[in-house]
Amino acid sequence: MGVITAPMDFNEEELYVDLRPMTGHRVFLKCEGVNFAGSIKLKAASAMVEAAIHSGALTPESTLVESSSGNLGVALSMIAASKGYRFVCVTDTRCNLSTRRLMEALGSQVHIITEPSATGGLLGARIDHVSALCAADDRYVWLNQYTNPANWKAHYHTTAPAIARRFPHLDVLFVGAGTTGTLMGCARYFRDSHHRARIIAVDTVGSVTFGGPPAPRMIPGLGTSVRPPILDESYVDEVIQVEEADTIRTCHHLARHGFLFGGSTGTVVSGATNWLSRHDAQHLTTVAIAPDLGERYLDTIYQTNWVQDLYGGHLLRSEELTIDARKP
Ligand SMILES: Cc1ncc(COP(=O)(O)O)c(C=O)c1O
Repeated sequence: MGVITAPMDFNEEELYVDLRPMTGHRVFLKCEGVNFAGSIKLKAASAMVEAAIHSGALTPESTLVESSSGNLGVALSMIAASKGYRFVCVTDTRCNLSTRRLMEALGSQVHIITEPSATGGLLGARIDHVSALCAADDRYVWLNQYTNPANWKAHYHTTAPAIARRFPHLDVLFVGAGTTGTLMGCARYFRDSHHRARIIAVDTVGSVTFGGPPAPRMIPGLGTSVRPPILDESYVDEVIQVEEADTIRTCHHLARHGFLFGGSTGTVVSGATNWLSRHDAQHLTTVAIAPDLGERYLDTIYQTNWVQDLYGGHLLRSEELTIDARKP
């Protein structure tokens, strides 16, 4: 593909990083951040907008509204600008400043929620705000990535078949869980196509997605404070939970090899290397999905003061940044 007319027409689907030299494990990292929205959320955003146009819910008079920790917001901002819709993104204080600026640069309005709701945390408060906007004005159209089947179907039709084509003998797939759109789309595809791949979900400690107790989390993308409605755990073979400190260590470790990835990639790679070090995995073919790249995290994960204030000064000492592949 060399010439495009709309930004969503380009997406790199075939790029993998062989992590063996960096982790000592046979894991291939599928890079989903190489498109004009800079993340995997381009796929869900495109699929949900197309479904809403097709159903007649989205008309030229509509204003799109969505709750997003950032990347879906950027993808929807891009699509809205390209197709001529207004877009309001409801996010919270964990949204990176650069992500917010990107959305505004693309012409979107950004509403930042600062107070968590009593039962649903910041995510619950974001959803309450979206519901209030829709109740006040029926020109608002909420795509609702948390319940919209087009979210997981995007991955059922693109991400998963692309992985199966490139790795027909795939043994294990590691997928981070946010709304669980990527996870459920991939898991359903591999189950429906009778593929033997084991599906391992990677989540953040403090997320309630798989029933764990809630705790504060600072890195956007993975994890939830409200259980995602599209999750069906019967499709998931195993769940790994990763501490945010390990996410940061892994991001810095990869950066020292020249690969600047986002926070959820650090989480997924940390979970995958930990799992592989606990299993006899030399002959397994494994893939992990990297949802975005690292530039949006220069003020957080890659900022020394931010890391030291939240996780302690020891974290960025060089000996801490080496992933010990043998560590259980
Ligand atoms: C950086 C990043 N990683 C992971 C995810 C989670 O993907 P999903 O919502 O498909 O579970 C998101 C979703 O917003 C994200 O922005």
